[in-house]
Amino acid sequence: MTVVDLNQQRIDAWNSDNLPIYEPGLDEVVKACRGKNLFFSTDCEAAIRAAQCIFVSVNTPTKKTGLGKGKAADLTYWESAARNIAAWSTSDKIIVEKSTVPVRTAEAIEKVLLRNCPAPGVHFDILSNPEFLAEGTAIDDLTTPDRVLIGGKIENDRGTAACAALVDVYANWVPRERILTANLWSAELSKLTANAMLAQRISSINAISALCECTGADVSQVSFAIGKDSRIGPKFLNASVGFGGSCFQKDILNLAYICECHGLQEVADYWYSVVGMNDYQKTRFVRRVVSAMFNTIRNKKIAMLGFAFKKDTGDTRETPAIDVAAGMIEDGAKIALYDPQVPEEQVRMDMGEEAMKSITCYKNPTDALQDAHAVTIMTEWDEFKTYDWKEIYQVMHKPAFVFDGRNILDHAHLSEIGFIVYALGKPIDPFLKSAEGA
Ligand code: UDX
Repeated sequence: MTVVDLNQQRIDAWNSDNLPIYEPGLDEVVKACRGKNLFFSTDCEAAIRAAQCIFVSVNTPTKKTGLGKGKAADLTYWESAARNIAAWSTSDKIIVEKSTVPVRTAEAIEKVLLRNCPAPGVHFDILSNPEFLAEGTAIDDLTTPDRVLIGGKIENDRGTAACAALVDVYANWVPRERILTANLWSAELSKLTANAMLAQRISSINAISALCECTGADVSQVSFAIGKDSRIGPKFLNASVGFGGSCFQKDILNLAYICECHGLQEVADYWYSVVGMNDYQKTRFVRRVVSAMFNTIRNKKIAMLGFAFKKDTGDTRETPAIDVAAGMIEDGAKIALYDPQVPEEQVRMDMGEEAMKSITCYKNPTDALQDAHAVTIMTEWDEFKTYDWKEIYQVMHKPAFVFDGRNILDHAHLSEIGFIVYALGKPIDPFLKSAEGA
């Protein structure tokens, strides 16, 4: 397996002791295989020539300009990878779509490959093999996946043979019954649908969290109760300040855009509303913070614990913390940020120079919490649960507020200490009710 990238710096990092991404267990895997059957290189041409099978895993971000901007997937990198493959291939190849792509991308890519390959008689078989792994659990998801999905032109012999070749690769460690084959379009659409359905579950429970706060129900009890229904199941029912990550929003917008392109406006609107509910949840959180603190957070130090879009990753793409921080800054807050994995440089890139005038990044939680008026929990890092909250209470301004956007802390214990606690979808603290005039 040779991993190639045009970016020399990134490949150097993959070849060093400091891998360019943080992922539990990844270091061990790379160290065990690097130089044996795993190589990292910028020599794309040589790797393409030598390969029998090429996994294309380039970015497919949301288009920022032009037709379908803000919704459609930008396939620029995909097309340029395909053009390079075509230009440098001198033997038959199996091309595997690993990137998440709009339905029927394989068809377009096949045209680019066929019309740009100068070598005579070279044949390309295109397969779709969507990646379902989640960050933070990537290695487990890889070694013991729920399923592996391989889409190909199973209606003809060449397509069936290409699928079988890739099935054989996975069968080295995945039980055969977990390796599914499908036609190309079904495989491509399954990936978008899986992410859209997962995100929809979160938006649904987040919608209920708002209702819980009005009625005195507890969203955790509701989640637990409905999760016991085997048709619903217990996973992905944690109310949160909002879902983030590189995939959910991008894939839903992409799916909705495809629906629009096929004249299915009602279907598109249904999926857009999942993103709309996610935005509402972030806005609602900021509103709670402001109203609880007597309608003003101007110049108040607010400790923000966590910036990554979920625990066990340093990834901040589409993290709800960006919108929450921006919302609080708009109201004049001074944010004291601590995240165990996200470096200040990343926060700067996400928030921009102007916002950074109101954000201080700390290397330890103690400094972030000293003299703070409130704590907001943005990421469910385990270490936040282990802090000595009694001690933290002592060093904060009073009344000291905790806004738990992930429902990970022991709220009864915090209230006992003296904190005013807001937890998503939980019965509202009487102090907050009176502050908000509710
Ligand atoms: C997701 C899909 O799970 C994965 O299959 C796909 O390959 C890529 O996109 P990932 O983005 O790594 O994976 O994270 P995921 O664990 O799905 O979480 C996404 C967001 O939803 C996070 O912000 C997380 O905190 C949030 N979330 C998740 C909730 O708010 N509540 C939940 O119950 C679960």
